[in-house]
Amino acid sequence: MRISVIGCGYLGAVHAACMAELGHDVVGLDVDEKKIAKLSQGLPTFIEAGLPELLEKNVREGRLRFTTDASQIAEAQIHFIGVGTPQLQGRLGADMSYVNQAVDTILEHANPPQEGKPVLIAGKSTVPVGTAQAIAERLTTSGRNIILAWNPEFLREGYAVKDTLTPDRIVYGLPDNQEIGAQAKALLDECYATQLAADTPLVVANYPTAELVKVAANSFLATKISFINAMAELCDATGGDVTRLAEAIGHDERIGNKFLQAGIGFGGGCLPKDIRAFMARAGELGVDQALTFLREVDTINLRRRDHAVNLAEEAAGGRLVGKKVAVLGITFKPDTDDLRDSPALDIASRLWARGAELAIVDPAAAETLRERRPDLTVPDTVEEALQDADVVMILTPWKEYTQLDPTTILPLVATPNIIDGRNVLNPKDWADAGWNYYGMGRGVPTW
Ligand code: UDX
Repeated sequence: MRISVIGCGYLGAVHAACMAELGHDVVGLDVDEKKIAKLSQGLPTFIEAGLPELLEKNVREGRLRFTTDASQIAEAQIHFIGVGTPQLQGRLGADMSYVNQAVDTILEHANPPQEGKPVLIAGKSTVPVGTAQAIAERLTTSGRNIILAWNPEFLREGYAVKDTLTPDRIVYGLPDNQEIGAQAKALLDECYATQLAADTPLVVANYPTAELVKVAANSFLATKISFINAMAELCDATGGDVTRLAEAIGHDERIGNKFLQAGIGFGGGCLPKDIRAFMARAGELGVDQALTFLREVDTINLRRRDHAVNLAEEAAGGRLVGKKVAVLGITFKPDTDDLRDSPALDIASRLWARGAELAIVDPAAAETLRERRPDLTVPDTVEEALQDADVVMILTPWKEYTQLDPTTILPLVATPNIIDGRNVLNPKDWADAGWNYYGMGRGVPTW
């Protein structure tokens, strides 16, 4: 099929590359010339496992091209919208301007249906519920005879290629009109023929359901993390160990053991902004009470960051001024170079504001951090960061840091204080090696 993907950021670039890998003829469109120049050479603009190979191969074989020239999307039969919907400046709601611009672009440049072949816009961006209906109405009034489906994306950074090529489910939000809905479904079925042949569960629903599925999933995941972090607070108050607690409740299949890792909380380009936009939308719809619990989810999450800063201060003897803190890991999670709403970066900034001397290392984001935050010290090696440190904090569980040997690195630091911001170290090993171990809701584990 001929496909266009509007927006070549995280979602769009991965989607374009994966659609080409499935055999489609794909053009990716973005307004950012630098991004397009790199992608056109088959080079990604961010770190994502498997993406470089996919881009290189499909660009070389001619199934995938990237452009800033909107006229190039004319012949596509499906136009995927994969632009960002970031949080609005100073407000909870989502910025919809990029989605609206994408629709404008499609309306201006897409060819109308030819020889009875329908043309489809498939929205993938995470949007406030009601957006699809509004876009569909615009399409109707434009008289362009282009149909719309909403087809949310559930990719996780670090697994984005896998999540796109072999998703755990596919969701179509289709127009209420049965005949038009069937046309939209047929096009999407053709596009995802490989996944559907592999028995990937398909959920077909109307527009609002498809839009809600995405924010509901992210809200549930955020709630799970804040739930276990609330339990971590209880464990801290009582001497319990939240990692054992999570292990024990996770054996109950109804609860499950995933997304129960307590620590400094969630961040990234999706969960925080999606739950906030969801609350804002619920307010507009007059059902804000239905989502008041998400405010608590957000608050618990942000409290984890305060807690980590306070713990560092406590470990430093009550005052951070002039104390060296080694921060290991700054991205919002490992295996990505993404710094968007990173809890680690927030914590580091607050430590700096309290007078700590920071030495931050990260396997993927060091260079970006140096460019964006020249005020922060970013040494080249972990050893340099650890040298004479008063407090060491693991804030992103990169394996480079979780596998550090406590005995080998002990002589480097000034005072052996380790804060395990993600509960990924073995407390006993570190304590036995002579470190003061501080976990996140782990009490003083004896078992
Ligand atoms: C998330 C959703 O998982 C994905 O389905 C959606 O499409 C986009 O948003 P992503 O942002 O890549 O994906 O990150 P995810 O792996 O969900 O992690 C989010 C944050 O939660 C990270 O900061 C991570 O460190 C944190 N986290 C995750 C925890 O603190 N504890 C956990 O148990 C799991």
